This record gives sequence, C-alpha cells and structure tokens, in this order.
Amino acid sequence: MAETFNVLALAGDYVGPEVVGAGLEVLVHAAKTNGLAVAVEEGLIGGASWDVHGTFCTDETLEKARHADAVLVGAVGGPKWDHIKIDGPITETDGLTRLRVELDIYNALRPVRSWKPLLGRTPYRPEVVDGADIMVIRENCGGIYYGEPRGQETLADGQQRAFEISEYTTSEVERIARAAFEEARRRRNQVTSIDKSNVMESGKLWRETVSRIGADEYPDVGLQHLLADYALYALVDRPRDFDVVLADNLFGDLVSDMVGTLAGSLGMLPSATLPRDARPGEKIKPGVFEPSHGTAPDIAGQGIANPIGTILSVAMMFEYAFARQHIARSIESAVEQTLEEGILTPDLGGAARTAEVTARILHHLV
Ligand code: IPM
Ligand code: MG
Repeated sequence: MAETFNVLALAGDYVGPEVVGAGLEVLVHAAKTNGLAVAVEEGLIGGASWDVHGTFCTDETLEKARHADAVLVGAVGGPKWDHIKIDGPITETDGLTRLRVELDIYNALRPVRSWKPLLGRTPYRPEVVDGADIMVIRENCGGIYYGEPRGQETLADGQQRAFEISEYTTSEVERIARAAFEEARRRRNQVTSIDKSNVMESGKLWRETVSRIGADEYPDVGLQHLLADYALYALVDRPRDFDVVLADNLFGDLVSDMVGTLAGSLGMLPSATLPRDARPGEKIKPGVFEPSHGTAPDIAGQGIANPIGTILSVAMMFEYAFARQHIARSIESAVEQTLEEGILTPDLGGAARTAEVTARILHHLV
C-alpha cells in the first residue's frame, strides 16, 4: 500500500482559492506519478472562516491542522473584513498568526532565488541578481510580535502611549539557530545572522546564542553576524554573496519581503513554516506551506493570479513534509521550463491565465 499523506487545504480569501486550486492540482499529480497517495481535506481560515464562524481560525481548524501531515494555505484577509476591530493579541485578529502560535511553527523558511527568464523584471541589473539564491530563516513565534506586556494607555497629559516589547529566551534563539545551521548544511554552508545587538538587549542575547550554537554544534558551517541595517544594504548591493539569512520575527518579516524583489514578482515566492529544524530525509509535521503574497483583492475572481508561489510551496511540502526532495526539484524545474517558454501571468508581464500556467507546469512535470 502506498503511504498516504493527509493534507489540510485552507484556501482563505480573494485569490486564495484560485492559487490553492492550482497548488492542489500539482500536489495530486506529482504524488500520483511518484506512487504516493494524498488525501486532501478542505477547511476555512481568515475572512472565509469569519463569515461562517465569527472567528478567523476555529479550534476545529487548529485540531485538523495539528493532525495533518501538511497544511496548504492560500492567503487571508482583505477589505471585506478590515473594519472588524477586536481587542487583544494579533492571534485574535489574524487567523494565520493563531495557527503559527498554536502549532508552535517557529521555523519559517522563506527562500528567494533569481529566475533567468525573469531577470529583466527585477529592479536590479541582471549581473547583480543572476544566480542569487537566498534562504531567509525567520523566527516566527516570538520576539516583538508576542512579547508581553503590550498595549496602549492614556497618560496624565491626555496623550496615548503605545508599547510592545522585543523579548527572546535562550532556548527560543537556540532552536531557530539550529534550524538555520541545518538549512545551511543542505545548501552552501553559510549563515548570516542579523540583529541590532548594538542597541537591543534581545539582539545581544541573539548574537551570543547564535555564536555559541555555531561554535559548539556546527563548526563546519560558516557564520557571520551583520547588524540588520547594514545587512539590508549588503543584500541589495551583492545578493549573490548570501546563502542562509537568519533573523528574528520582525527583522525576518522585513528582510523576507525585501529580498523578494530578487525573484521578479511577489507571486513567485513560496514559504514553509515548520515546528522544528529540518534535517534531510526526515518528515516534519505539521508544517504550513503558503505563498508569501497576499489576497490581491484587485485581481480576485479573474483567473489571472500567479499560481507559482503556491506551486513552489507544494514543492517545499514534498521536500520538508514528505521527505521527497527529488519531487521538489522536478516541480521547480517544471516551473523554470514554463517561465522559459514565456507562459507568464500579468504580474510577470504576460497575459497567461492561472489555469494555463498550471497546465503547462503539469505538462512539464515528470
Ligand atoms: C507575513 C505577514 C504576517 C507577519 C502578517 C500578515 C501578520 O506579513 O507572514 O510575513 O507579519 O508575519
Ligand atoms: Mg510579512
């Protein structure tokens, strides 16, 4: 009997269902041609969940996610739900952050690479960007996003004071540092850790801890520390010099969008968010796999959303959740061939529809 992988699909809002539909086609096709069985269950998250249940992520969705082998997410939110004001932590107002915290998926892998057929679509000169291939490892369950206390208060003079704190414990930094070093070992063996240890206490602990884990457990992996501001400059100036970039929750959020410019469109970017570090050959569950882009309300329903960010997230699912690295590589090469043929959605300057791009990728999938 073929091994069966259970996938929970949470399409979300606006273009979410369109791109998740494309991702599932690739998932099912690639599994079948490789003798794997997948069982897909669908669920609600984001506004789609709000409309039915009055919450952005139900306990039931969480339970299903906990027991799945992998979760495929589209995108959540948009103007229809922007007016909803809920007091409390962001886990109440954002279904995805609830999923992240409850599943403790602290290891966010956000890869970005340049694609030859898209070199002319980036803001960089081709010779600067050609060959760039960066994996941002973002700590995803701590730091300033979740530090307590947070809130607002009215001061005696009538002003508002708003505050949050950036906090990390040693073990939180240790586990994400290991995730970065493990990732570097399966890539080009170089970690750049970014922080503001010149001004932040959490940055000092970050730098000390990453150094110690590197020296004690990963002496074979190159490690450099950069201050986060200079790191952004260097990443734009010479992106090809970077392999794994390790960052806390906030800096990782910023840097992963910024290096996204290397790919040619936000629609090209996949991600995987995992509950542990990823060692080659091991199946990790439950990971959440999702494109980095948002819900794109302006183009929703037109069938022109770029499905590639989601399809590459499915590739990551094969690699990290199912330990089938070779299938991940074949999906990536099918994407590359499709780009080379010039079958491009409008965000990439083409006129192809979501379905056409997906069909072409399926055609190239061996
Ligand atoms: C991301 C997003 C989220 C974040 C938002 C939507 C809460 O920007 O996944 O990068 O800040 O983590
Ligand atoms: Mg972000």
